[in-house]
Amino acid sequence: MREHPDQVACRIQELRDIINHHDDRYHKFDAPTISDAEFDKLFRELEELEQRYPQFDTPNSPTKRVGAPPLKVFSQIIHRTPMLRLGNAFDEAEVRAFDRRVRETLGVSSVEYAVEPKFDGLAVSLCYQDGIFKTGATRGDGYVGEDVTANLRTIRSIPLTLVRSGFAGQCPSFLEVRGEVLMLKADFDNLNLQQREKNQKEFINPRNAAAGSLRQLDPRITASRKLTFFAYGIGACEGGTMPREKHDRILDHLALLGLPLPFERRTATGAEALLQYNREIGAQRAGLPYEIDGTVYKVNDLLQQEQLGFVSRAPRFALAHKFPAQEAVTELLGIDVQVGRTGALTPVARLKPVFVGGVTVTNATLHNEDEIRRKDVMIGDSVTVRRAGDVIPEVVAVQKEKRPSCVTVFLMPDHCPVCGSRAVRQPGEALTRCTGGLFCPAQRKQAILHFVSRRAMNIHGLGDKLVEQLVDNAIVRTPADLYRLGIAGLAALARMANKSAGNVLHAIEKSKHTTLARFIYALGIRNVGETTARDLARYFGGLDRLMRADAESLCKVPNIGPVVASNIAEFFAERHNLEVIEQLRSSGIRWPEEDDSKNARDIRGFTAGGKAEGKTFVLTGTLPNLAREDAKKMIEASGAKVTSSVSKKTDYVVAGADPGSKYDKAVELGIPVLDEAGLLQLLQESQATSS
Ligand code: IVH
Repeated sequence: MREHPDQVACRIQELRDIINHHDDRYHKFDAPTISDAEFDKLFRELEELEQRYPQFDTPNSPTKRVGAPPLKVFSQIIHRTPMLRLGNAFDEAEVRAFDRRVRETLGVSSVEYAVEPKFDGLAVSLCYQDGIFKTGATRGDGYVGEDVTANLRTIRSIPLTLVRSGFAGQCPSFLEVRGEVLMLKADFDNLNLQQREKNQKEFINPRNAAAGSLRQLDPRITASRKLTFFAYGIGACEGGTMPREKHDRILDHLALLGLPLPFERRTATGAEALLQYNREIGAQRAGLPYEIDGTVYKVNDLLQQEQLGFVSRAPRFALAHKFPAQEAVTELLGIDVQVGRTGALTPVARLKPVFVGGVTVTNATLHNEDEIRRKDVMIGDSVTVRRAGDVIPEVVAVQKEKRPSCVTVFLMPDHCPVCGSRAVRQPGEALTRCTGGLFCPAQRKQAILHFVSRRAMNIHGLGDKLVEQLVDNAIVRTPADLYRLGIAGLAALARMANKSAGNVLHAIEKSKHTTLARFIYALGIRNVGETTARDLARYFGGLDRLMRADAESLCKVPNIGPVVASNIAEFFAERHNLEVIEQLRSSGIRWPEEDDSKNARDIRGFTAGGKAEGKTFVLTGTLPNLAREDAKKMIEASGAKVTSSVSKKTDYVVAGADPGSKYDKAVELGIPVLDEAGLLQLLQESQATSS
C-alpha cells in the first residue's frame, strides 16, 4: 500500500511529538509512562519513515540524537555574548567580603542573591532560533568556542525545540542558553564498568568523562555515553517574553520553555544566608546525582548586576564559593598492608602529605591487588588522590607522564603482616585474606564476638562492650582465653560487678556442653555458616576427621563447593588455628559425638560395586529425614545415577511426602517404589555386597 505524502508528513510529526513527550517524561521528569520497548518501536517507525521520505527529514528530529557521522575537526563558533568566568571564594571570610563589596558599591544595606549549585561539568552555550536548537558550542576562550552541535543533539535533556505556547508566553526569536553538560554519577559508574569490561581506559571522574564524551569528533560515541544538561543562565536574548528584572525569574522562564534546571536553586538574602546555603548543599553533596564543586551566588536584580559591572572577564555580581578540592596529586612513598576485622588484606598507599577534601591526607586505600595492577600503580609514582565527603581517601589514578625512572613494583605478601599466618587469595576472589582467623590480633574482636554469639557457643552476657574491654586490655586474645577467665579479672572491668562477672563465668561454663555443628560454626571459618557447619558435622561425625580432610574430600560433603572446601582446608592447615582449637578442647568443651557420626556413616558409607550400582533412580516428594541433595549424593556414591523423569529405563522411584506425577507414572509402568527407609536399606545391602 502506498502512503500519501501528506499523511506521511502528518505521521512523522505525530511520531516526533510523541517521542519528544516521552523523552521529556524519561529524561527531565524521571517518570516514563511507556516501556523502553514501546519507545523503541515508535523510534524505529520514525527512523524508517525519515529514510523513505528524506524530504521530511530534519536535523531537529529526535532520531538525530543518536549521532551524526564523525567530523575531521570542530569548527568554531563566536559567542554573541562572551562566556565569562566566576570569581572564586574558598572560605567564609571571602564570601562575607564579596557581600560587603556588593553592598558598598550599590549603597544598600542588604542584597538578594540567586543561589545555585556549582556544577562540575563543562560549560556550553546553546543557540535557539525561533525556538529551534540551531548550534551549540563549548566555552573555548570565552569568546570563541568549538562547534559541538551534533554532539549536543544526542543529549536527551537538551530540548531540540522550545515550548512555544501556553505558560511559556512568546518564545524569543533568538536565545543563547548557558549551562553545564555533565555526566550523572550513576552513568559514570556504568561507563567505567563498560570500559573495564572492554579493557579500555577508565575515566578518573564524571567531569573528565563528560568532557571526553562531548569533545568527540564522532557524535555516535557521544550518543553512546549518557550525558545530561542543566541550564543556569542566558546570553543574548531577542524578542519573546523573557523576564528582564531578576535572574531567578529568567531561570523560571527557561524551565517553562522546556530547559532542565536544578532543584537546588533558590534565593537568599545576606552573607549568612549564602553561607547557610553552602553548608546545606555541602551536606547534600554526596547524595546528589551529579558532582558539584561548590555553590554560586548571583545578585538577583539585573539592574544591580549592571551597576556592579565586570572586572577582567568576571562579573562583580557573581561568586563561586568552592568546596575544598576532592582531588590532589601527590607522591606515593610506599604501600603498607592492613588487615581488616574479617582478615582481608588491604594495600594502603603511604603518601607525601597532601591537602585534599579539606584535610591533610597521608594514607589512601588501594583496595586490592587487582586494582593496583589495573591502575598500574608503582611505588614512587605521582598519584591522584581523592577524598569525597566522609569516604575513605583513595588513589584513583597514576600520572604516568610523571613516572620517575626508578619505581618499585608492589607484591602482595603471602603471610599476614599482623599475625604471620599464611595469606591466601582464592581463585576468582579479589581479596587476599589472612587464614589465622582464631589467632590473628586484627581479627580478634570479630572472631570472639562470633564465637560467643547465640547460634555459635551461645555465651550470654558477653556483649560488644565487654569483649572490647577484654581484647583491649589483652585479657582475651583468642576464644580459648575465655575458658581461662577468673572472677577477679572480670569484676575489675568497667560496668562489671561480682554478680555479673559470676553470671558470665557461669555462661562460659555452660557453653562447654555444645554440639559439633555449633563448635564448627563458632570457629568462624570463612563462608561456613550454620547450615554448612551442620552438613560438616553430619558428614564427618567427629572434629578430627574434619580437620584431616583435604579440599577434595570436603567437596563430597552435601552442598559444599570447591571455594568453601578450600577455605575450610586452609583454615585447618594454619598451625595457629590448630593451637587454639587444641586449647579449646583441653578446656573441656565437648559434644555428643556418636549422634553425629550415625548420619555421617549414612552419607559417607556407600561405595560403588553393590546392588544399586548402575541402576537409575528418580526422586519425588519430600523425604522425612534426608534432604534431596543428600539422597542424591548417597545414591551416586553407590555407583547409581539419579535422573529427573520416569521412563521404562528407571529402576527405582524413591517417593516421599506429596509425590508428584512421577509416582503415578512409576505405578503405571510397574517400577518399584521405595520410601526413605527402603532406599537406605537397599543402599546398605548395596554396601554389604560390595565390601
Ligand atoms: S554562571 C558570568 N552558574 O563555573 C558567570 N556558572 O567560572 C557565568 N558553573 O565553567 C557562569 N555551575 O560552567 C554559573 N550555576 C552556575 C554554574 C556555573 C557551574 C561553571 C561554568 C564555568 C564556571 C565559571
